[in-house]
Amino acid sequence: MGAGIAQVCATFEHSVLLNDIGDEFIRRGVEGIAKNLDRDVKKEKITDTDKASILGRIRPQSSLTEGLGDVDLAIEAATENVKLKLDLFKTLDANLQSSAILASNTSSISITKIGAATSRPERVVGMHFFNPVPVMKLVEVIRGLATSNETFTAVRDLAAQLGKTPAEVRDSPGFAANRILVPMVNEAIYTVYEGVASIEAVDTVMKLGANHPMGPLTLADFVGLDTVLAVLDVLHEGLGDPKYRACPLLRQYVAAGWLGKKTGRGFYDYRATVTNGAAAQTAAPASR
Ligand code: 3HC
Repeated sequence: MGAGIAQVCATFEHSVLLNDIGDEFIRRGVEGIAKNLDRDVKKEKITDTDKASILGRIRPQSSLTEGLGDVDLAIEAATENVKLKLDLFKTLDANLQSSAILASNTSSISITKIGAATSRPERVVGMHFFNPVPVMKLVEVIRGLATSNETFTAVRDLAAQLGKTPAEVRDSPGFAANRILVPMVNEAIYTVYEGVASIEAVDTVMKLGANHPMGPLTLADFVGLDTVLAVLDVLHEGLGDPKYRACPLLRQYVAAGWLGKKTGRGFYDYRATVTNGAAAQTAAPASR
């Protein structure tokens, strides 16, 4: 999602430093952005010159401790691991100018907790984008307990300036969107687990019966099964209600490394679907 966020920010004229755990990942992110922009050029939504200007505003940044002097806002989009995020925020806090805002794109982890790991909790806020970032209009803007009005307003206004619709949400496990969406996905997995319907049938039911653009199991593969499981565990632990317990089948898929599209296999098998350089949307359902 970090690359998608960088693309959107650069499209709306912001200078972006793009960092990841290694240069190889940064390179892949920039390649993904270039591919998205090529698609927009082909559709004549932007020109080649626009594409070059957008890419020109994105600078690969290998270091999180150097050259960050004039950064006004950092948006973290690392994997859903509390320790990793707290460490990242401590590093950013120590290396960014004191006026900078630190935002997290976390799917569910407490903004209050992330803020408390820094010396500037009033400048820490949730800025939760949705996948695919260039397409999805929503940004949840989440206030931690200590987030100042000034920080909240700055990030809400930025989301609007990026062409998104901001929704104000309180800091609570899963915030609002994932609290509603992810239990639905979990229920879809239980429906397969209990043999009520096949993977394809569950997706068909929700696409044609509820007009969802993607079935819930395709969506889970798209988001990443590890992320879906991480959100469920936060909901279960944070709200203490057994209705949020993750389906054992989901845990098993994650244990197997079947994390969805990004690993080539999840509820669907994407490994043999490369045709003319483009991955097909769905393949035969992976057997249980
Ligand atoms: N990146 C950039 N643009 C993309 C894209 C991608 N990965 N995938 C599709 N697009 C663009 C296409 O270029 C196309 O643009 P156009 O309208 O200008 O032609 C547009 O999106 C529609 O794409 P397609 O016609 O190829 O395909 P669909 O009509 O099936 O749309 C979809 C694809 C937008 C992904 C649609 O299937 C969808 O809305 N799916 C549901 C997505 C969703 O629910 N996301 C939320 C996930 S939860 C989350 O992110 C929260 C996290 O915390 C877990």
